[in-house]
Amino acid sequence: MQDLKIPAHIAFIMDGNGRWAKRRLMPRKYGHKMGVEALKRVIAACEKLGIKEVSFYALSTENWSRPKDEIDALLAMIKKFADEEMKEYVDKNYRIRFMGELHRLPQETQNALESIARAAENNTGIVVNIGINYGGRDEIARAAQKAAESGLPVTEEAINANLDTAGMSDPDVIVRCAGEKRLSNFMLWQCAYSEFVLIDDFWPDFNEQTVLRIISEYSGRERRFGGLK
Ligand code: IPE
Ligand code: IPE
Ligand code: MG
Repeated sequence: MQDLKIPAHIAFIMDGNGRWAKRRLMPRKYGHKMGVEALKRVIAACEKLGIKEVSFYALSTENWSRPKDEIDALLAMIKKFADEEMKEYVDKNYRIRFMGELHRLPQETQNALESIARAAENNTGIVVNIGINYGGRDEIARAAQKAAESGLPVTEEAINANLDTAGMSDPDVIVRCAGEKRLSNFMLWQCAYSEFVLIDDFWPDFNEQTVLRIISEYSGRERRFGGLK
């Protein structure tokens, strides 16, 4: 059997919740609910397998164009996830971080997320990074603005230090699922040398076996970072 290389950081673009539900003649909201269950399974599997950092795309800056009842359902799920699972994660020593502009969320959700991030700041376990109202272009623009305001030269390092992911490693792997093959504005700066793994399954079907498939595919990749082998 091939030796498995465990990536330090995997980033997941969670997709296909709506189609998963449609196949079952269920409303899209039900797909999102089962998507939260998959998120819990995947976080647990990554922690168990020794992955140090995981990132998830939960809500994009473009997703606000969806019907209001779907957005409301997603916001309610984010709040519930914060009040229940995230609190447990803090107690389990996980570090919880967020990417994106939280200010567009309801005030009580922002407060809940900010207090979780603060409570988990000095935790030393797996880093769980969640993109909410996140867009890669928006993140880069905000970071460039902050770097420029500092009066120092706008270098790559200065932008890196002002991104929402400041201090984190770049993803070794970016996973897109549900048969799609695009980034949809996710971690545009950080993905410069990430390995892309495409999984046809819809997100609500993800589990530990899926994570093992991803690691197995990653283990066969040869990374060169522009150099020679
Ligand atoms: C991903 O599932 C979740 C979010 C984007 C919030 P989708 O809701 O995009 O599901 P599909 O792609 O329509 O099936
Ligand atoms: C990407 O999925 C955004 C999230 C997973 C939050 P979308 O379903 O919004 O992406 P597109 O529209 O298919 O590119
Ligand atoms: Mg989608």
